[in-house]
Amino acid sequence: MSLPVVLALLSLLTASIFYLKSSRTSPLPPGPKPWPVLGNIKDLTAKEFWLPATQWAKQYGDIVYLHVFGQGLVFLNSFDVANELMEKRGAIYSDRAPLVMAGELCGAGHMVAFTRYGPASRRQRRLMALGLSRATVPSYHPLITASTRKFLRTLFAEPGNHLGAVRRYAGGLNLNVVYGLEVTRTDDPYLMKVEGATDLLANEVTAGGGLWLVDIFPFLKHLPDWFPGAGFKRKAAVWKKDIVDSVDYPYDAVKANVRAGTAVPSFCSTLLQQPSLTELDEFDVKWTANSMYAASMDTTITLTQHFLLAMLAYPQHLARAQAELDAVLGPGPGRLPRFEDRPALPFIDAIFAECMRWGVPVPLGLPHRLMEDDVFQGKFIPKGSLVFANIWAMLRDPAVYPDPERFDPERFLTKVDDATARRRDPRAYVFGFGRRRCPGVHLVESSVWLMLASMLATLDIRKPAGAPDPVPVFDNTVFRNPDPFPVELVPRSEQARRLVEEDA
Ligand code: HEM
Repeated sequence: MSLPVVLALLSLLTASIFYLKSSRTSPLPPGPKPWPVLGNIKDLTAKEFWLPATQWAKQYGDIVYLHVFGQGLVFLNSFDVANELMEKRGAIYSDRAPLVMAGELCGAGHMVAFTRYGPASRRQRRLMALGLSRATVPSYHPLITASTRKFLRTLFAEPGNHLGAVRRYAGGLNLNVVYGLEVTRTDDPYLMKVEGATDLLANEVTAGGGLWLVDIFPFLKHLPDWFPGAGFKRKAAVWKKDIVDSVDYPYDAVKANVRAGTAVPSFCSTLLQQPSLTELDEFDVKWTANSMYAASMDTTITLTQHFLLAMLAYPQHLARAQAELDAVLGPGPGRLPRFEDRPALPFIDAIFAECMRWGVPVPLGLPHRLMEDDVFQGKFIPKGSLVFANIWAMLRDPAVYPDPERFDPERFLTKVDDATARRRDPRAYVFGFGRRRCPGVHLVESSVWLMLASMLATLDIRKPAGAPDPVPVFDNTVFRNPDPFPVELVPRSEQARRLVEEDA
């Protein structure tokens, strides 16, 4: 037996003994029966984990507990429970897991989504709140409008590559808003750098839920690189360089622009021009800036893909949306949509809300780590548990959303009292909960709305001739991002084509 295996077994035994001997007086929340020592390892699935999690919700109730080798996994299956724990008890429910591989070895530990709860995460969140507040986002509307128009031109020019166009749009908008860097080419060097690192994070470092053996047995990080089984360390060294480069490269550019007096207004330039900036301030600005890029990419792509799937499956909603847009913009359309049109476009708003509800881009949120033992409704929740908000279950709750599998924007148009309207608004769930709730929410509200309205105004969205109905496949463990499916995006009319091309 090799040394790492012996050490792993020893540590496993210690963890299990600790788990069995913990001095709790209340029972754990209910959940599927674990095996001795191994716990619920057989219940974990790499794909669509939100589906079994929601089955357990039906079987065991609003709070479900599992463990794997003594590591607690807690699922909060209703808004009330998630709000009670993650929001009201946020002081102890706002940490993130100490991911040795992603955080320490690959250098991503300073990214907002990975930062442990404490002074650093609070400083980063303050910066984000400043740069992405409800009050600040309207100042980005000109940039968002320009990026959306560019996106339409790309779609029209490369009709078979809508995924590439969405990536470039989301990436370009971010580089612009965050660093004031304008992307003019597909192979823009900044875009390539940050995209490369984002891909690495999503598809390599955090593939499989982001958990590596070294995260369960942290002592493995001390193995020498050449040691058999230490391949993960060699990989991490290569990935770390790419990740750190992607943080430094656009940041150094904006810093040089600020020094030369040529910086355009952006998240970074605004903050970098504050007087008496400390080294720590700069460090925070740099990592916070990078986090926005990484966090917005997969979520925006996922939401757009669900919008397209919905329009393919429910062409009647596409037709109704286009009729609403024509009535406001003039037939054909008469012009491209603007933010000022939004109050006159309730059905477009309803489509946007239903895309968030039906698509559920991050179905189990990002786990929060519990920092102290807690007791809730007479049940004991151990310190160190990873706590998941089961957003999927909340947005598929038939009591709030009748016939929840159906894409039905109409559900948001029926008049209800304020409390019911708040309860059915998917924004209350889809961005997570408490002190780690998504800070990009106001940006999404503007940017994705304009993107959907612009696509609906100018494009027909249909299946390629002879193609079967798409059956979405979800391979990603964190994002509910469907694998690519065939879809044809074509200008709705000559008028639409002219509008998009003339806008250049
Ligand atoms: C469709 C769009 C989006 C959805 C559905 C979404 C959803 C989420 C969710 C569920 C979380 C986890 C919250 C929690 O732990 O409770 C999160 C975290 C985060 N999101 Fe978003 N997001 C979106 C877009 C964005 C954008 C555009 C940005 C930035 C510009 C962004 C930045 C972040 C960051 C930095 C975090 C980590 C926060 C922390 O750990 O403190 N997101 N998002």
